[in-house]
Amino acid sequence: MEIIPSILVKTKQEFDEKIKEAEQYAGWVHIDIADGIFVPNSTIDGVSELIDSGTKIKSGVHLMVQKPENHISRWLSIGIEKIIVHAEATNKLEQIINEVKESECAIGIALNPKTPVETIKNFINEVDLVHFMTVEPGFYGSKFVPEVAEKIKDFRYFYPDVPVEVDGSVNLETIGILAEAGASIFVVGSYFWDSQDKRKAIDDLKSAVNNFKT
Ligand code: DX5
Ligand code: ZN
Repeated sequence: MEIIPSILVKTKQEFDEKIKEAEQYAGWVHIDIADGIFVPNSTIDGVSELIDSGTKIKSGVHLMVQKPENHISRWLSIGIEKIIVHAEATNKLEQIINEVKESECAIGIALNPKTPVETIKNFINEVDLVHFMTVEPGFYGSKFVPEVAEKIKDFRYFYPDVPVEVDGSVNLETIGILAEAGASIFVVGSYFWDSQDKRKAIDDLKSAVNNFKT
C-alpha cells in the first residue's frame, strides 16, 4: 500500500516548497501536469522544475495533457520513475507503452470517472498499473465520484493482478471505500496539504486502509 502526495502548481517556487515538504513524509510524490487543453487548468511544465529541485524522492508524473506522446521522451530523459497518461488524450497508447517499457520507468493508464475500462482492454496486461480518477481531473479539491468504486470492483474481478491507483478526493471518508473496491495506491492532494500535522494525515490514511483489511 502506498500513500502519495500530489503536487499541482503554477510556479517553480510552489513546486520547490511542496516537494521539500512531501519528501519528509512520503516515499513517492505525484506531479500533476495540466496543459489547459485536456483539462481546464494549467500548471508548470515540470521537467526543469523537477531537475532543479534536486530531490531524491521517487517521482511519478500524471500527464493531464492532450497528446501525451509528445512529452514522454523528455520525462524519460530525466529519469522519472512513473508516467501516467490518459486514455482519453491519445490514440497512441501502444507507442507510448512501448517507449516507456524500454526504460526502467513504470507506465500507468489513467481513466476519467466516466471512461469505461473497456476502452483500454487491449493494453491492461501491458501496463504496470491502472490509474482511476475519482474526480474530474484538473484541480485540487474536486468532488468525489462514488460510482468509480463500482468500476474498480469490476476491474479487480477481471484483473486481480493489475495494481489499482486512485486519484482525487482521497480522504478519511473515501479511502476505506476505495481500498475495499480494490485500490492499493492512493494519491492525496487537499487532504494532505490542508492537514496541520502531515505525518498524522498519512498515518491516519494508512490506518483507515489497514482497518478495512482486518
Ligand atoms: C487533479 C489531480 C489530482 C489532485 C488530487 O485531478 O490529478 O492528483 O492533485 O487532489 P485532491 O486530493 O484534492 O482531489
Ligand atoms: Zn493527479
